[in-house]
Amino acid sequence: MSTIPKRFTVTAALPYANGPVHIGHLAGCYLPADIYVRFLRLCNKDVLFICGSDEHGVPITLKARNEGITPQQVVDKYHALMGNAFKDFGISFDIYSRTSAPIHHETAQEFFTNLYEKGEFIEQNTEQFYDEKEKTFLADRYIVGTCPNCGNENAYGDQCEKCGKSLSPSDLINPKSKLSGAVPIKKETKHWFLALDRYQEEWINDWLPTHKDNWRPTVYGQCKSWLDQGLQPRAITRDLDWGVKVPLAGEEGKVLYVWFDAPIGYISATREWSQKTGKDWEPYWKSNDSKLIHFIGKDNIVFHCIIFPAILKAHGDYILPTSVPANEFLNLEGDKISTSRNWAVWLHEYLNDFPEKQDELRYVLTSIAPETKDSDFSWKDYQARVNNELADILGNFVNRVMVLTHKYFGGKVPTSTFTPNKEVEDATINIHQHVAELINNYEFRSAQTEVMQLARAGNKFLADAQPWKLNQETQQAEIADIISYSIDIVARLSVALAPFLPTTSIKLRKMLNTTESFSWNDILTASLPEGHAIGLPEILFKKIEDDAIIAQLDKLEQSKQENLSATSNLKPMKDGITFDDFSKIDIRIGTILSAERVPKADKLLKLLVDTGIDQRTVVSGIAQHFEPEAIVGKQVSILVNLAPRMLRGIESQGMILMAEDSAGKLHFVNPPHAVENGSTVQ
Ligand code: MF3
Ligand code: ZN
Repeated sequence: MSTIPKRFTVTAALPYANGPVHIGHLAGCYLPADIYVRFLRLCNKDVLFICGSDEHGVPITLKARNEGITPQQVVDKYHALMGNAFKDFGISFDIYSRTSAPIHHETAQEFFTNLYEKGEFIEQNTEQFYDEKEKTFLADRYIVGTCPNCGNENAYGDQCEKCGKSLSPSDLINPKSKLSGAVPIKKETKHWFLALDRYQEEWINDWLPTHKDNWRPTVYGQCKSWLDQGLQPRAITRDLDWGVKVPLAGEEGKVLYVWFDAPIGYISATREWSQKTGKDWEPYWKSNDSKLIHFIGKDNIVFHCIIFPAILKAHGDYILPTSVPANEFLNLEGDKISTSRNWAVWLHEYLNDFPEKQDELRYVLTSIAPETKDSDFSWKDYQARVNNELADILGNFVNRVMVLTHKYFGGKVPTSTFTPNKEVEDATINIHQHVAELINNYEFRSAQTEVMQLARAGNKFLADAQPWKLNQETQQAEIADIISYSIDIVARLSVALAPFLPTTSIKLRKMLNTTESFSWNDILTASLPEGHAIGLPEILFKKIEDDAIIAQLDKLEQSKQENLSATSNLKPMKDGITFDDFSKIDIRIGTILSAERVPKADKLLKLLVDTGIDQRTVVSGIAQHFEPEAIVGKQVSILVNLAPRMLRGIESQGMILMAEDSAGKLHFVNPPHAVENGSTVQ
């Protein structure tokens, strides 16, 4: 059934253009994709590597509003920043496009129209939150309120960014429109839905299991559980003005949902590439002998494994993904990476602090890639891997070879009779076969480890042979053999490392003064002719000093501190008062004798309290925190000399003291042991 693929269409998730790229993005998606693509190119495969900025969606409009600029200005800024960061780290896209490009709007609208005309959509009126002051529907993100889970007062209608809980707007306590502050109301609006439930029956249930054995268990498992729960129709339009307009007359104010248009962005980008290069784009998306592979992070799985395939299939002309190698998450120093908490290593900042050390970061991120489970980046580990592996093994070996060649043979490859070393040969053959398999299987972490095995074997070979201890006059031939073979090992490394450490590979090729182009098979035959003049030695990897690591850790500590003070729920201290002011306050310990709800007031309880002095009625705003029956008999602190107030027609004579915790929950303030009613608090 499966044909040998003629071409590979490789996509990397389009990053949202509302913030810079960090190490989590790189490790999760772009780096593995790049290694894969570079490897395929070395095997002379026809491969197209596609990416671009995802420029729609509500977070972008919110950011624009907060900063007082247009959404277009936001995405222009980050599109440029992200594009440069990818380039700096050697991520070798054939095209880096963007979803605000006209060709994308056209492509996404063509998809909508195609599906619409075939009657694929369900048209339905639903109730959505609406801001009456601003006369606009509110996306979940445009509604803020108090998180029922942690008390954060700025939780969004889709998620609380403080505790991470997913929410829906109706979960929020005191929901408010972010636009006007008004309390949102529900209002009817029309939307178009994709019939995922029908597709599940028609083909997804049969299609997905064909990937049971060739998709990662983490990816397959997530999809399977979606199917087990049963897919639901999904709205693919929104009431917004930023996005791809719904291409129907009389439907102003509606745009395509960002998760409908963004993956179509892969196709738009391919079309843009085609326009630029004059090559045909269609085989990459429509031909059965093409292999479509999506590199993504785990939060994108359902969109790439179910929803986008559903869109492609409904359109009809398109192939479905063969593989979706989704990674798990990368943490930083034991904590979840977070843009809003500034807990991240930003790529552009990294390069300012560690100029030209992009391969060092690529190496470490691949070494700890979260392929099968979440993993952790720590600066100490970064330092150890760079110093002990890149500098001490790879760098040291290459440097010795270069220096010795210049010292003994004037920088020319000496004449030799080939004396292969078993470990080196084994490592080489292993790379050619086994590493290729690992890469084809998306196991980049192990693949890189095995490539480093050749550097280790080379380093050991040279250290054991100790040519510097041989006699230059009488043992010239032996020295020549050792050096010549070592040069070949460096040449092999320049090939094997190319997918992982492209800048290092180029440096090696330059040092060897050899061709820029080569292919994977050259690992087996890499050898420089006798008399070939090599270039000058260059230090490949400088050791990372402790100071540099301490500086990074300090930077993170600072984010932590800033974040603590910014997100603290503590109220600022009130203005000072005199002792006289204080002594006017009369607080007593009393006991609740009875409690009942106040009709039509969901926050109030009517309490009868024995204050020791008298029995009195107090109306207290604690109904959302306690059941009336549960608090009868409890001792409380009560402010007894507060002027009476009318609340809902009841005279409240005093006030119960409550402590409010960071989650917004109330607790009685009372003595640890029962005391006599009427005891004073002073
Ligand atoms: N912008 C999304 C994210 O960062 C990914 C979009 S992938 C695409 O999570 F398929 F929609 F393009
Ligand atoms: Zn919360």
